Amino acid sequence: MFKQIAIIGAGTMGYGITFQFAQNNQNVILVDQSEDALVKAKEKIEKYAEIFHRKDPVQYARANKIMKQLTFTTSLRNAAEADLVTECVVENLEVKQRLFKEMDELFPEDTIFVSNTSSLKLSDIIRDVQKHRSRSLLTHWFNPAHIVPLVEMLQTDETDPAVYAKVKQLLTQCGKVTIDVKKELPGLVANRIQIAMAREVLSLLEDDAATKEDIDRAVAYGPGFRLAQSGLLEIMDFGGLDVWIKVMEQLQPAIASGVKEYPTLTSKVEAGKFGVKNGEGFFTYPNGSMDDYI
Ligand code: NAI
Repeated sequence: MFKQIAIIGAGTMGYGITFQFAQNNQNVILVDQSEDALVKAKEKIEKYAEIFHRKDPVQYARANKIMKQLTFTTSLRNAAEADLVTECVVENLEVKQRLFKEMDELFPEDTIFVSNTSSLKLSDIIRDVQKHRSRSLLTHWFNPAHIVPLVEMLQTDETDPAVYAKVKQLLTQCGKVTIDVKKELPGLVANRIQIAMAREVLSLLEDDAATKEDIDRAVAYGPGFRLAQSGLLEIMDFGGLDVWIKVMEQLQPAIASGVKEYPTLTSKVEAGKFGVKNGEGFFTYPNGSMDDYI
């Protein structure tokens, strides 16, 4: 479908998205300004390939094939042949604006530009883009990118619908579930829902309403997941909207919508307990990695 996909930024999202595309037989060139980030990304992708194919010796052979479809480079110029570029660099508007301007000058007019920003406005990111305005859009993946199915998509008024459809088709072929975000609100759709849940989870923790394990169990096994692929609006239909309206009216005033401070979270961060990345957050992770959960 695409001759070559360039992923710019070889961090957490960059290597996950690279692996997902490579697993679906796409040639990918991974670009990062840091040689060290590229080395780490290569190690991660090799590990993912091994984990994914360990259980199936026939499939295991594919691990090598995946690595052959990949190129790693510190020079954006080496990616100039790519017909789709997915930007995954740090969440900094100026860095992204500079990069998109450089990409606009370097890549042929028909190259498609995609940003994976979580919180910046696409229209701001492409402020200085001229040649590629109709070929720019947003695809917001979730971490780990090769595991979480959802990708949120957003276009500008100028995005060519055929370009949008082509990217959507690629994502679907890769097994992703896409949603079309119609309005560019901060946090788009899924992150707003996740933040609303996080706010309530942290508030329950502060209130000592249940153990942290049980609070997490309630999230994992309760709302929204009772039936395969049921979303919350569907769950409300199943329960009865007449019932839900009463529950909302009674509970809404009592829940933590207005709470803005989370002492437990703050104290963890102040103590340098950031989670998986340094071995301890709410829970402990002796291996300092999420790989055991995949
Ligand atoms: P990260 O910090 O793990 O990786 C960013 C990489 O970009 C680094 O390796 C850095 O060396 C590289 N980089 C920075 N400027 C560059 C440039 N001009 N050219 C080439 N490489 C450059 O970041 P992460 O977490 O992968 O996030 C990337 C993007 O994806 C951000 O916009 C973030 O908001 C978004 N995102 C992150 C999610 C997450 O859970 N981490 C989820 C969804 C989106």
